[in-house]
Amino acid sequence: MEFSSKKNINPIRVAVVTDLHTSISGKTSHGVDVRTNFLRVFEDIKMSEPDFIWIGGDLCLKEPRLETYQWQQGVLENLKIPYRIIAGNHDDSHMLSEVFSQQAVHMHGDEMYWTELLTNNNRVIFLDSSRGELSRDQKSWLSRFTESKEPVIVLIHHPPGIMHVPYMDLNHKLRDHEEVLEILQRFAVPPYILCGHYHIDKTVQLDGMTIRILPSCYFQLRGDIQDFAVDHHYIGYALLEIYEDRVETRIKYLYENQKSIQKESVGSLKESE
Ligand SMILES: [Fe+2]
Repeated sequence: MEFSSKKNINPIRVAVVTDLHTSISGKTSHGVDVRTNFLRVFEDIKMSEPDFIWIGGDLCLKEPRLETYQWQQGVLENLKIPYRIIAGNHDDSHMLSEVFSQQAVHMHGDEMYWTELLTNNNRVIFLDSSRGELSRDQKSWLSRFTESKEPVIVLIHHPPGIMHVPYMDLNHKLRDHEEVLEILQRFAVPPYILCGHYHIDKTVQLDGMTIRILPSCYFQLRGDIQDFAVDHHYIGYALLEIYEDRVETRIKYLYENQKSIQKESVGSLKESE
């Protein structure tokens, strides 16, 4: 099958990686060597040679830590690929903007959000849901783009709606998801929304919008039950090809990464999300 012709050339290629949950040096978490996962995933991304890297939040394991961000910054700067970072609920936006000041300096009060226009006229909106909801200011700022004529890609850590992933919807959903979704539904061009947080690979289409939840670099969750349960430990990231008229997304899993996770350690993972 072939897509429409002249808009079919020279996509902007973006690697999107999320929920890295990096621990402090020398620590594994519930049998997962999250630091090694971090190095593996960015080594793989480097080989994919994307134009940009977008990081979807939860860079730290539980509490935001300066030393973790500094270690990550060293790895990322060595890649020599431009990158952008949004904050997740395990991050501190002020700390992120301080450590990654070369890449992310768009603070509005306690939140870090901004927009960029790509060379092929796609607008990218980077949001901050690190407090589990968006401030009134951030929501009114987001509303300013509802009339945009260009295609819109939104990056937000929390999915902006009920995703029918029972454990996460019941326990960890975005508190003001109804308001945020209502704004996104008013966009003249239905946005393509990229999220993390749920530790699952799932797509929901709603009113022309696509909400694309990307897998974690820690563990993936079962998406069909109300209780917490790990599905598997393959880590993965998304490779986007952004054309003038569409976005194509492919998930790349690192299949060599299925670890010999000790069963007894997995039961207590609930506390980590
Ligand atoms: Fe999260």
